[in-house]
Amino acid sequence: MKKKYLLGLLLAGSPLLIQAQQPVKESKGFYQFLTDDPTQKPFYNDREGVFARNGMVASAHPEASRVGMEILKKGGNAVDAAVAVQFALAVVHPSAGNIGGGGFMVFRANDGQNYTLDFREKAPLKGGKDMYLDEQGNVIPGLSTLGHLASGVPGSVDGMATAHARFGKLSWKEVIQPSVDLAEKGVVQTAREARGLNAIREVVQKVNPGTTYFLKPDKSDWQEGDTLVQKDLAKVLTAIQKKGREGFYKGKVARILAKDMKKNTGIISRKDLKEYHSTWREAVVGNYKNYKVITMPPTSSGGVALMQLLRLVEPYPLKTWGWNTDSTVQVMVEAERRVYADRAKFLGDPDFVDVPVEKLISYEYLKERWKDFDFAHATDSKAVSGGAIAGYESLETTHFSIVDKDGNAVSITTTLNGGYGSKVIVKGGGFFMNNEMDDFSVKAGVPNMFGLIGNKANEIAPSKRMLSSMTPTIIEKDGKLLMVVGTPGGSTIITSVYQTILNVLEHGMTMQQAVNALKFHHQWLPDKTMFEAGAFTPNTIQKLQNKGYILEQQRGTIGRMDCILVLPDGTLEGGSDPRGDDTSVGY
Ligand code: DON
Repeated sequence: MKKKYLLGLLLAGSPLLIQAQQPVKESKGFYQFLTDDPTQKPFYNDREGVFARNGMVASAHPEASRVGMEILKKGGNAVDAAVAVQFALAVVHPSAGNIGGGGFMVFRANDGQNYTLDFREKAPLKGGKDMYLDEQGNVIPGLSTLGHLASGVPGSVDGMATAHARFGKLSWKEVIQPSVDLAEKGVVQTAREARGLNAIREVVQKVNPGTTYFLKPDKSDWQEGDTLVQKDLAKVLTAIQKKGREGFYKGKVARILAKDMKKNTGIISRKDLKEYHSTWREAVVGNYKNYKVITMPPTSSGGVALMQLLRLVEPYPLKTWGWNTDSTVQVMVEAERRVYADRAKFLGDPDFVDVPVEKLISYEYLKERWKDFDFAHATDSKAVSGGAIAGYESLETTHFSIVDKDGNAVSITTTLNGGYGSKVIVKGGGFFMNNEMDDFSVKAGVPNMFGLIGNKANEIAPSKRMLSSMTPTIIEKDGKLLMVVGTPGGSTIITSVYQTILNVLEHGMTMQQAVNALKFHHQWLPDKTMFEAGAFTPNTIQKLQNKGYILEQQRGTIGRMDCILVLPDGTLEGGSDPRGDDTSVGY
């Protein structure tokens, strides 16, 4: 971990200000955060934040953060850097970075105006409500997650072109160039990236028989330090560089994509591609105490859910109770239970269904939601609403946060859904396609790969966008930029963002500590609280279990945050998650 942190510092070039943060070892035992056990170590590890004055890029990969930083140093603004980072991630972090997927951008300009862009995938025109069901109306396993039929119409390229056309300062050519270079010259594999490619080898061959994409020339296993060259992807990126969105949605790339689909019983057509457009939407904006939260509206459920969660816990003294003490966990979990039940019922693509956003985040409604809460014992999820139990899978999405020297801030979360999406690699294009169709409710009440269930609001219809949990968020205090937050993690995105924000605002953590802090998650159904090892003390576990909470320690980790905090003197603190290759670079 230390090595990666140093790498972050090295990549920062010649920073004007990068200072090591003092580890917190004082007053209340080993760590300053109030817990029921002063010796509790609240962190995944002790990585330290990256500090700089002029600009910060926090992303899932050191090369992508470096690319963003170079764009900022060249005089590009946060949107220029974001476009460059999105395309760079498509090359260096193929499990989640993408041109074959989609995502959401929250942008706060330094004049305080905010904008959100929905570049989420859409169901193909030939898609429909029952497309993943057999004749008996049962879900056909795997059809919405693996192979050509699992993909929605990609939105990332249009999203980036749309954002850049409105806010970019540098030329389109300049912001795409770094990703072309990375694809052409090759990317040195981190241990994690190498492991990922080795792990999917078999399934990639199953879905794309005989393909040589993402294989080493001698077909041996990838090792850390190997170089991955992506010539076909470089050509696609060059087409995008030359022709903008048309380089992807029309012409050769569109042709090969549609051809690949047709040949393999996929249904994305050239018409789907031609007609895809991202959409500017009004942000979900609300106060939590004296902070202003600016977050993503539907088609993501993330912003509404985050606002609900924060406002539900607002009346409770979390700070006094302490970080992850039984009372704090209890009200946070009970809030999560109610919010995820609402998500399943009300949330969907606002172009197709009426989502009562204002009502859902209103204090009156939320007060009502607490009515059946009793501190003496856990609420039964079945009493909140009906549903089913499901399992989890290890998955990938990616988030990045950027602040430029003028204080413009971008928060983008983008995804292929599952790691490497549908595992389909477009022949002649060399890029992975998403399996985002699984984010629809493929059948009412049947859980998706995250165990999330949905209903009519999120059923499949042609050109409709599937509901997301991605929660790119920006927080203001006193009219000034305070924090840029986001993470991958499927259904755990919302709760990870929620905890990270509260860790800073209520528990006084630095940005990096809030990222490092161990996390937990409840999503109404299944009715259990998952937690990272060490997130709760034995005493807290006992107290929660006594009240009827079902707790399950995770084998893996929760969240892979990339966030930026603006300190009172204007210094930026980049907090990138030690759970991944994530790196903050500042100057
Ligand atoms: O949009 C969503 O909510 C999901 N497709 C996100 C997937 C994800 O975060 C997977 N990652 N870890």
